Amino acid sequence: MPIITAPQDFNVNDLYVDLRPSTGIPLFLKCEGFNFAGSVKLKAARRMILAAEQDGVLGPGSVIVESSSGNLGVALSVIAADRGHRFVCVTDPRCNEASANLMRALGARVLVVREPDAAGGYLGSRIALVRELCADERYFWPNQYANPNNWRAHYEETAPAVHRQFPDLDVLFVGAGTTGTLMGCARYFREHRPQVAVVAVDAVGSVTFGGRPARRMIPGLGTSARPELLDASLVDDVVHVREEDTVRTAHRLSARGLLFGGSTGTVVAGAEGWLAEHPLDREPVAVALSPDFGERYLDTLYEDSWLREHFGIAAPGPDLIESLPT
Ligand SMILES: Cc1ncc(COP(=O)(O)O)c(C=O)c1O
Repeated sequence: MPIITAPQDFNVNDLYVDLRPSTGIPLFLKCEGFNFAGSVKLKAARRMILAAEQDGVLGPGSVIVESSSGNLGVALSVIAADRGHRFVCVTDPRCNEASANLMRALGARVLVVREPDAAGGYLGSRIALVRELCADERYFWPNQYANPNNWRAHYEETAPAVHRQFPDLDVLFVGAGTTGTLMGCARYFREHRPQVAVVAVDAVGSVTFGGRPARRMIPGLGTSARPELLDASLVDDVVHVREEDTVRTAHRLSARGLLFGGSTGTVVAGAEGWLAEHPLDREPVAVALSPDFGERYLDTLYEDSWLREHFGIAAPGPDLIESLPT
């Protein structure tokens, strides 16, 4: 096992769950949550901060400020603490308490924007506050929505890891938030194995690929403003998943001991639908990226009253246990 001196130097990049035996879905799920930040965003955060230090835009006395729905904020908190930077995270009420508490525990300051933007989401409001803070020149904004180091992290790490493990890959499913993961993987496979279909998975209600804005409760995927990083011409197909299906799929996985975050539910639901609609004459080699695990969503995605309030359903666990003979 490796011995490290900085938390961002450890990341499991080669663990996959074969979902077929437990769920019947012919899919390998790449787990991106095994690191000190607990999510795929450690890669982008690390690349953006190290580049800013090298370029001299981030130094002693600087304050990092970023808009995040949770995971990038946690990742930046980890790296800022290690590198001796201060960090302010601008977030919104959809950011779960667990992520905000993690950031605070790591020494970050969390500002919550409560006024929705014109599209009914919070992204615009969050960015407006970040810009306001950046009027003070001590602030440095990595800007995950436009920073090429976001997608480069996945071009250099995520996609090559998938390619090494699955040289015969047919299709890769990637959830779209900032589209950093998606663009890095799409660019890599265009260049190295263009026959791979790179399929973007987004939430119904996201405007990223031109959809109509609507309420979304699951953080991580989807936007209320088109991400600047996105070049849709690099993507082979796009699937939109209803949040009800996200929730059901996440619970289907947790019922098998696989407690993943909501966006994994979205990606797996999207992949299952797409694979059913695009049969090959042989078993496809299909991989989906799982951005994080479920522990930070225990108060939302896996909590009865939250599920009832927002989706009119209950978590399957307690009902199942209650129905067991005593
Ligand atoms: C849980 C979760 N899933 C998916 C994503 C999307 O990743 P990307 O921003 O690279 O599109 C994020 C990004 O914050 C996330 O936190």
